[in-house]
Amino acid sequence: MSDAAGSAAAGEDATRALLVELAAGLFARGFSVGSAGNISVRLEDGYLITPTNSSLGSLDPLRLARLDADFRPRAGDKPSKEVFMHRAFYRARPDARAVVHLHSPMATAIACLADADPENPIPPLTPYFVMRIGARLPLIPYFRPGDPAMEPAIFAQAQTARAVLLANHGPVVSAASLSDAVYAAEELEEAAKLALLLRGAKTRKLTSAQIKELIDI
Ligand code: 13P
Repeated sequence: MSDAAGSAAAGEDATRALLVELAAGLFARGFSVGSAGNISVRLEDGYLITPTNSSLGSLDPLRLARLDADFRPRAGDKPSKEVFMHRAFYRARPDARAVVHLHSPMATAIACLADADPENPIPPLTPYFVMRIGARLPLIPYFRPGDPAMEPAIFAQAQTARAVLLANHGPVVSAASLSDAVYAAEELEEAAKLALLLRGAKTRKLTSAQIKELIDI
């Protein structure tokens, strides 16, 4: 093996280990239950994604699904049935290097509200929410889990949004690294909790000037 191939392999091993560790942390805190949720990360020559029907709490680093650059399965277990959801982000956002989809309870609760604002279902109340998620969190209409028709709907919104909320389903978040995508998913869940705690109360939202300043950070 050449030096470059050796260091790419070592880098991939570390990425697999990090994905498993971060997923277990999300599971341990109840951000996903059962076999819900899926996580992917971009590699030099393809992607890793969690296998379908796997628990984020007990992933095996060697059994993560390995996809080529065209999202075709090449090794590991059968990939998540929602590969297309991840593909929509990677294709719409060249800066995205990881995607996290959860059924985390607070964000999913907001995704079930009949009066959720489709443009802004979680209001910009705190700076870290805006710093991690950005100025937009569009609500995507309901599709059954695994329905490939979700892909164009996500792709269209992901051009101008780092994350989306799937109606009656849960959040999908992208970021420039695996850790950042997990931090963003955590921040989104926290913002959803605050929005529910404050539902009906008169709140002070961040102004557009305050939001702009945060996004420029
Ligand atoms: P997979 O087990 O196929 O990844 O699907 C889980 C999920 O979260 C469906 O929305």
